[in-house]
Amino acid sequence: MSTKLVAPSLLAADFGNLQRDVEMVNQSDADWHHIDVMDGVFVPNISFGMPVIKSIAQHSTKILDVHLMIVDPDRYIKAFADLGANYLTVHYEACNHLHRTLQAIKNQGMKAGVALNPHTSVHLLEDIIQDIDLVCVMSVNPGFGGQSFIENTYQKVSELKNLIEKKNSNTLIEIDGGVNATNAKKLVDAGADVLVAGSFVFKSENPTETIKKLKEQIA
Ligand code: DX5
Ligand code: ZN
Repeated sequence: MSTKLVAPSLLAADFGNLQRDVEMVNQSDADWHHIDVMDGVFVPNISFGMPVIKSIAQHSTKILDVHLMIVDPDRYIKAFADLGANYLTVHYEACNHLHRTLQAIKNQGMKAGVALNPHTSVHLLEDIIQDIDLVCVMSVNPGFGGQSFIENTYQKVSELKNLIEKKNSNTLIEIDGGVNATNAKKLVDAGADVLVAGSFVFKSENPTETIKKLKEQIA
């Protein structure tokens, strides 16, 4: 894939002005909305659930990229399809029957993603990569925005890129956590297709401009 994508993470938005922030992303150069769902079990934090995502979906004009940091995600696949999710990403570490889960996501008309915690090797995807539309490489431990980028990610991305090419798969590589102007270009050079950015975008003085610059940097 030649076009590199930016997906601002709404976890870092101002929830008191959520519609405003969703519309800012709509009107920006960003490609997707990244939506982080946390259950307080798989990760220590709780973010938001269906009613909030429903509001986001109502105001969004872009692709909804939903990242589930929850145990037993199969229970909610249909609910997320009904809400209008385009990509639904589950954690490798949360699925006992990953193949079945991915098929269930696709059967609901969504693209299927798999997220890997920082300690999880990309080589574990060897036998399933062709069934995966997107691999989300976590470059922080999931659960919170605003953490520092883990440097080992570059190596992981290169290995994953090699695996995808070796298996002739169309899988996209997404990076999530601590993405900023310092690491963006290097990540894309290593093989990344989609960059998620939360704090870097929403805590900046001019988020629209920050998104624009990030896109230019990786074009
Ligand atoms: C972390 C989430 C990320 C987070 C990224 O668990 O999956 O999507 O919002 O936030 P930043 O860009 O601030 O690290
Ligand atoms: Zn995320």
